[in-house]
Amino acid sequence: MSIELQPPGARRPAPPPQPLPDPRIPGLTADFVWGTATSAYQIEGAVDADGRTPSIWDTFSHTPGAIDNDDHGDVACDHYHRMPDDVALLAGLGLDAYRFSLSWPRVQPGGSGPANAKGLDFYDRLVDELLARGITPWATLYHWDLPQELEDRGGWPARDTALRFADYAEIAAARLGDRVRHWITLNEPFCSAMLGYHVGCHAPGRQDFQAAVRAVHHLHLAHGLAVQRIRSVAPASAQVGITLNPAQVYAASEDPADRAAARSADGMGARIYLDPVLRGEYPRDVVEELARHGVTLPVEPDDLADIAQPLDFLGVNYYFSDVVAAGEEPERTRRVPQPDRPVTAMPWEVFPQGMTDLLTRISRDYPGIPLYVTENGAAFDDGACDADEGGRVQDHHRTAYLADHLAAVGRAREAGADVRGFFAWSLMDNFEWAYGYDKRFGIVHVDYRTQRRTPKQSALWLRDAASVNRGK
Ligand code: FCB
Repeated sequence: MSIELQPPGARRPAPPPQPLPDPRIPGLTADFVWGTATSAYQIEGAVDADGRTPSIWDTFSHTPGAIDNDDHGDVACDHYHRMPDDVALLAGLGLDAYRFSLSWPRVQPGGSGPANAKGLDFYDRLVDELLARGITPWATLYHWDLPQELEDRGGWPARDTALRFADYAEIAAARLGDRVRHWITLNEPFCSAMLGYHVGCHAPGRQDFQAAVRAVHHLHLAHGLAVQRIRSVAPASAQVGITLNPAQVYAASEDPADRAAARSADGMGARIYLDPVLRGEYPRDVVEELARHGVTLPVEPDDLADIAQPLDFLGVNYYFSDVVAAGEEPERTRRVPQPDRPVTAMPWEVFPQGMTDLLTRISRDYPGIPLYVTENGAAFDDGACDADEGGRVQDHHRTAYLADHLAAVGRAREAGADVRGFFAWSLMDNFEWAYGYDKRFGIVHVDYRTQRRTPKQSALWLRDAASVNRGK
């Protein structure tokens, strides 16, 4: 009897195709905007090219032990050198819009003084490539890469950083505003302030709650001043907004102590960002709670008027929800894990209904502002991606995650929320901050040894979903 052996290196058969989610999403109309998102430090690499100076993420990622595997963004996806190919890849996905961020220390090394022509040229070329392929650029001015020099002068806890940001925003809008219509001032100020200056798991890695609360206020001020400066140089058609990641919090029970804990978590995770920007005030309960911790927001006269500039849209990033119960002092709140919810590789709990609840709540409590989901997506272990012809990444989990969350957006729209678009995080696998390269959020796979890009099944599904729903 002969036994047939597989030749060495033979490929295992591909997993059987699973039924893909239905690309028709109830509630999404033909004018809905479909996009993907990235950020500068996570994809560009080329950290010392053409006059760029270090940001706090260069310093932090080169601090031993700060990042999983001691990964850093020195090369990342090498997007700085591969940009035209990446835009061609993007064009192949047939989506409407691309959200990217500008690296502040590339555009204005050191964070003050004149612009760096070569740095600006890169974004100029990127914008032209996008427009040539019919893709609408959405530019984020700050996705966490503060010039190190500004951190050395106090960082976001120092008021001057907000003034520096306004200058930088004007430089960027003056150069690109004739072609970039959509501007996002800041990405997730919660993370910049709380993860960077309180928890310390993000750059600059400080652990000082008062400094973090000062950072919150100065980020808001930076936003408000930047909005004014963008509008002062960009055409009147400019659409200016901010991207927040408001916590979506549920009380673990009807017990008044748990409900108070949820209210407190909502205050520090959502309303402390939403209220000043959209209502021109800090929530009173949050200010009182901070005072109980001996901490104050460094508000000066006229700041709140500067902060609460009229906006054209609000960007909302959503990944998971929190269930909280009353906890021990001094925290007072405790996260309650939900074992019935599946988890991603982060591991973050998957709960699409939280997206519906968050969007409907924001449009109810802060009426009149159009919403865009500027990030949503998931890290899963995709397995190996064959580098040869026929290589595919069958990321069923990510495809289902995106389909379920798009359906959740559709339900929010049907419930009356004015949600106008969705940007999948992320166009490609990239440097996932403190988690390094192991956590893959891309709808396009990146082989970091060869820099080869391979669209995953989720990218092809998103392309189909955009096309099917546009044609409705
Ligand atoms: C968000 C960040 C983005 C990415 C995703 C997973 O908080 O804005 O850069 O890291 O999380």
